[in-house]
Amino acid sequence: MFICVEGLDGSGGTTQVERLRQAWAIRSPGREIVVTREPSPGPVGRLIRAALADTDIGEGVLPYLFAADRRDHLDRVVLPALARGAVVISDRYALSSLAYQSLAVGLEKVGALNADFPAPDHTLMLDLPPTDCLARIELRGGTRDRFETLARLQEIAASYEAAIGWASARGWSIARIDASGSPDDVAARVAEVIWPGC
Ligand code: TYD
Repeated sequence: MFICVEGLDGSGGTTQVERLRQAWAIRSPGREIVVTREPSPGPVGRLIRAALADTDIGEGVLPYLFAADRRDHLDRVVLPALARGAVVISDRYALSSLAYQSLAVGLEKVGALNADFPAPDHTLMLDLPPTDCLARIELRGGTRDRFETLARLQEIAASYEAAIGWASARGWSIARIDASGSPDDVAARVAEVIWPGC
């Protein structure tokens, strides 16, 4: 079972990944649950985090770095865990590349770079208006990355719609989740998708 959580920066993905891990642990005691993220903690992921902080790395380079990180992350973490029968929950995956990197190089090119990667069993898209995302980002403080301005978030929101169209047409199962309200509210909506009627 491979689940990915997606959404704009500030939409609450990291919180919901942790909530989902807790929900799985309660419902399936003893089952291995692997929580992971992209950019990954591996060598290419570390390079990407440095690149996002360094404006000298061009937007045209990022699609390749993210695709290389995804290959490494799948081979090192995701696929071995799935082979062991684990539940894998990833904070972001290929839909993020389709949304973010297509702004620089177009959906067709990003799609081609990501065509070989397996579709998750569930992609959970956390829907929250860009203004609300920015308010949450400001609340959490810290440094912003290059994607975190209102105009940029609005662009990415539109791009996510195109990305969802692209992935849906290729058989991906994508659930839209209303990400407004409290973490508990959102976690309940997520649980309804994973365990309908339970
Ligand atoms: P993020 O999950 O926000 O990491 P952190 O919580 O450490 O800031 O990811 C960093 C940024 O990378 C985020 O703005 C989304 C972006 N990103 C892409 O542009 N393409 C991708 O393929 C992925 C996985 C992330």
